[in-house]
Amino acid sequence: TLDGGRTVEAIAKYIRDGKAKKIVVMSGAGISTSAGIPDFRSPNTGLYANLARLNLPYAEAVFDISYFRTNPLPFYILAQELYPGRYRPTITHSFIKLLSDKGLLLKHFTQNIDCLERQAGVPGEKIVEAHGSFARQSCVVCKSPYPADRMLEAVRKMDVPHCLRPECEGLVKPEIVFFGESLPDEFHDNKHLPSEADLCIVMGTSLTVQPFASLPGFCSESTPRVLINLEQVGSMGSRPDDVLILGDCDAGVRRLASALGWLDELEALWKE
Ligand code: OAD
Repeated sequence: TLDGGRTVEAIAKYIRDGKAKKIVVMSGAGISTSAGIPDFRSPNTGLYANLARLNLPYAEAVFDISYFRTNPLPFYILAQELYPGRYRPTITHSFIKLLSDKGLLLKHFTQNIDCLERQAGVPGEKIVEAHGSFARQSCVVCKSPYPADRMLEAVRKMDVPHCLRPECEGLVKPEIVFFGESLPDEFHDNKHLPSEADLCIVMGTSLTVQPFASLPGFCSESTPRVLINLEQVGSMGSRPDDVLILGDCDAGVRRLASALGWLDELEALWKE
């Protein structure tokens, strides 16, 4: 299907020729590192390499539901740093918005909880927040919702919030998907979409956490898949029409936008 080999130019031609009208984008923490938010697994700079101060039994415990039930404080220490509102979307987020503006975006699947795709203007109905977000919070015991203003206050003070129902008083946490919890319905309701896509773009993820990591594999064998990432990940590159754009994703997105003749438009959108 790809005319011109496994290159950025061939992908750009495929899009310009109108063959990509239903693009699925799958992303992770790497698309937000240039905004100043650390990813999880990069050596040295990743969150998991910098949690020694929290005295965790293992790094991923900070997002583990069983661990949280016994010791919620480390999560709240991190939440203060990760809480949305302090960061600006990257040009990679604006690229997703541009695909949406051009009517080419079928769905954006994100593992990120930073809400930067929304902030960049990608419409809510185009986004699947596979690992939840800080948008809502509830009691881990009785599931009662907890007020947003009180959560903000709790995060600011690093004060672990408890359910307001006196007969419960369970721990409250943002509706972020922790290890040991199931993904939201919107993930399961939309995970068939990669099989309907005519182009798949994977950006800024190590593709290590299931079930998200399986999404690119749901694309049809004849659907070109592009990886824009610092490193090769998962099975990306194993199919004849996989194109690897290795390096920084903002740079990769600019290369692709440039090959498409969209670079000025993209830069303008980002600066808005
Ligand atoms: P990871 O930290 O596992 O992977 C980030 C990927 O992005 C790595 O492959 C990096 O090399 C790459 N990367 C980093 N900066 C980049 C840049 N500027 N340009 C291009 N690539 C870059 O993050 P995720 O894959 O998102 O889940 O992690 C998946 C899940 O694991 C998260 O949603 C989180 C975590 O535990 C939960 O907490 C449930």
